[in-house]
This record gives sequence, structure tokens and C-alpha cells, in this order.
Amino acid sequence: MGCAISGVTPKSGGDGNADVGLPHLSDNQIQMIKESWKVIRDDIAKVGIIMFVRLFETHPECKDVFFLFRDVEDLERLRNSRELRAHGLRVMSFIEKSVARLDQLERLEALAIELGKSHYRYNAPPKYYSYVGAEFICAVQPILKEQWTPDLEEAWKTMFLYVTGLMKQGYQEEERMRLQQDSTSPKERPDKRNTAL
Ligand code: HEM
Repeated sequence: MGCAISGVTPKSGGDGNADVGLPHLSDNQIQMIKESWKVIRDDIAKVGIIMFVRLFETHPECKDVFFLFRDVEDLERLRNSRELRAHGLRVMSFIEKSVARLDQLERLEALAIELGKSHYRYNAPPKYYSYVGAEFICAVQPILKEQWTPDLEEAWKTMFLYVTGLMKQGYQEEERMRLQQDSTSPKERPDKRNTAL
């Protein structure tokens, strides 16, 4: 695998509240991320696949979250899977949108919180999010070659901490909302589904 990044996790209070202690991206870091993205974006399909195959290799428990991939034992088969390519592209498109919104953080915040809420529905808990940043960094390093520097690595790590911190916040909001709904009696529940379809 040849990459020593083990996880992009907060320096302290890893399991704390996401809205407390979101990291700050400096102007210089934002600039570095944007410049490097111009190179990375030519390879987004490739990076998306490498990232997820590596994620499943290093953290096989993540595969169980994906209905489509959970029974695929042969990771080489996954490398050529159309579905994994499509999934990788969805995640990379989100990263692209995030990079584009680094100058409008309130818009990025809303987007990432919504994404966290949808991940609650996908059953993908926050403890797994930090692995994605680490695999992203491992996948893009060889593309950027000598343009990769410790400062650039720090900038990308900070951006992933920021986005995944917000996702975690969204996940927790959705979880709280669902728990509240569940504690309301079914008769009073406003979104009670009609099961007799
Ligand atoms: C930085 C972390 C991550 C980002 C930016 C991200 C982004 C996305 C995006 C953009 C989608 C498309 C659907 C949507 O917009 O709601 C998606 C779907 C999904 N994600 Fe994530 N994700 C991350 C981490 C994870 C992890 C760690 C898991 C599982 C362990 C996961 C599981 C899923 C599943 C099951 C879906 C739905 C199926 C699909 O769209 O293919 N995600 N994710």
C-alpha cells in the first residue's frame, strides 16, 4: 500500500462535539488546496477508485456499509466495478464542490451538514470519516509528485477535518431528530408512513 497516513483525526477531543473545535483553514492553505486541485481534478475517477479500494483494504468494516459491495470479497474485482467508479466520482465531486466553496464557508457548512444527515440514513457513522481523508492523501500524493509538501499535506488534512467535523455534526443532528421522533407515539408522529401500500 505504501502510504503511512493512518487517519485524519482531530488532535484532541476526537469524539467531542463537531461544532466545537472545527479547525481553521488559513488563506494560504486555501490557496494551496485550490492550486493542487487543478492537478488532482484531471484524475478524479482514478483517485475515487484508489481511495475506496484502499479504504476497504485497510478498514474492511467500512465495506459492510455499502449494500452493493459488502459481499464482494475480491477487491481486484471492485477496482473495475462501474458502481465503485460511480460512487468514487460522487465523493470526489463533493470534494470539488468543497474546494470551490472554501471562500464561502457558510455555503460549504450547509452542504457538509446535509451530507452528514444523509450519511445517518446510509448507516455510515462518523468514526469512519477520518479514514477517507487519509486515503485521499495517499491517493493524490503520487499524482502531485514533487509538488507534494508537508504544508500541502497539512492543508488537505485540515480541510478533511473541517468537512468531516461538519458531517459529524449533521449526522448527530439527524440522529437526535430521529430519536425524538421515535420517542413520540406513532399516532402523533407527523411523518408516519402508510405501510399498507
Ligand atoms: C470524507 C468522507 C465522505 C464524503 C465526503 C462522502 C461523500 C458522499 C457523497 C457525496 C455521497 C453521494 C450521495 C449524497 O450526496 O448523499 C455519498 C454516499 C454514500 N456514502 Fe459517503 N462520503 C464520505 C464517507 C463515507 C464513509 C466512510 C462511508 C462508509 C463507511 C460512506 C458511505 C456512503 C454510502 C453507503 C453512500 C450511499 C451510496 C452511494 O451513494 O453510493 N461514506 N458519500
